[in-house]
Amino acid sequence: MKILALAGDGIGPEVVSAGLKVLEAAVEGACLELDVTEDLIGGICWDTHGTFIREDTVSAAKAADAVLVGAVGGAKWDGIRVPGGPEMQDGLMRLRMELDTYIGLRPATAHPALASFTPFRPELLEGADVMVMREMCGGAFFGEPRGIDRAGPGGRKGYDLSVYDEHQIARFARAGFELARRRRRKIVSADKANVMETYVLWREVVSEVATEYPDVELTIWYADNTAYQLCRQPADFDIILADNLFGDILSDQAGAVAGSLGMLPSACLSRWPAEGEPAGPAIYEPVHGSAPDIAGRGLANPYGTILSIAMMADYGFGRRDIARRIETATRRAIEAGALGFDLGGEHTTAAITDAVIKELRA
Ligand code: NAI
Ligand code: MG
Repeated sequence: MKILALAGDGIGPEVVSAGLKVLEAAVEGACLELDVTEDLIGGICWDTHGTFIREDTVSAAKAADAVLVGAVGGAKWDGIRVPGGPEMQDGLMRLRMELDTYIGLRPATAHPALASFTPFRPELLEGADVMVMREMCGGAFFGEPRGIDRAGPGGRKGYDLSVYDEHQIARFARAGFELARRRRRKIVSADKANVMETYVLWREVVSEVATEYPDVELTIWYADNTAYQLCRQPADFDIILADNLFGDILSDQAGAVAGSLGMLPSACLSRWPAEGEPAGPAIYEPVHGSAPDIAGRGLANPYGTILSIAMMADYGFGRRDIARRIETATRRAIEAGALGFDLGGEHTTAAITDAVIKELRA
């Protein structure tokens, strides 16, 4: 399996190095050969090459079986504007666009051992296992025109375009309903059809696709109510289907269910794979960002990246067995108390990684 590893900025290199070590240990004796290439993305790529991702890196990503990303960004690079659309301002957005990885899978699972570090009463979390599905290649994050007019009559004016076409919504919704059939067959679609036309269309198309899946229960809620219900009754959710903007927000919120944002993995797929088949071009990355506040101190929680590696084994390699080994080792390491500062523990990133590898080999 050809893997392109793009560690990026902040805690990105710390968690990616942890993830790769776990991957190496997880494939021992699994009849799988790894060919890992590392490259730059984000601010560090800007400092080295004057671009947020090189064309060669984009080509290598397209040719890889899986791309592993840490995180990108930081205050130092925030104000930089490059000619071109929104994807040119951010290496990860460019990668998502080029690979067309529109299916964002962001699972958040409650761990009994972490319940006391969440804001929830333990009984509310029992069995909580939410999959936030985020559309990754459209909506307000990619829409144009966008900009800041510096000399408007009302002073400066900032604007973005929230836009989806039917095809984008339908293909994403279909992936959601397919996934629902492998889970508990319940979808909540989150929109703001009460105030925005983009979401009127979103609601129409999701409802149309739903007619092809009468065995899946579809509930449609406004996104604000969805956020509220996710706080009140996290265990009632199976899949949340959301656009790029709401999916971004709701997936971070789901981090509270898992105990820490650092626990959350993700996969961004470019097509919905048949069961056990490799998914083709895809990006695997933790949900969190570059966390500049803790970077370089060994404080980063690597579980989100390690669980992203499990998703890579599952969707990228079609190897559910390796994915399960990683998930089990992760659960055991957590139960054994291998926790960092974000979860009340004292383990460093490296110590957590070692604990997972020890469980893998046990
Ligand atoms: P963030 O996700 O980096 O951090 C939010 C909070 O969670 C911080 O207090 C951080 O210390 C903590 N945190 C995050 N990951 C953690 C981990 N693995 N272990 C322990 N604690 C963790 O979001 P923030 O601070 O809003 O953004 C920081 C930078 O990251 C910005 O430049 C932003 O643009 C970028 N970003 C990049 C993303 C990506 O590459 N996918 C996603 C989100 C933000
Ligand atoms: Mg986010």
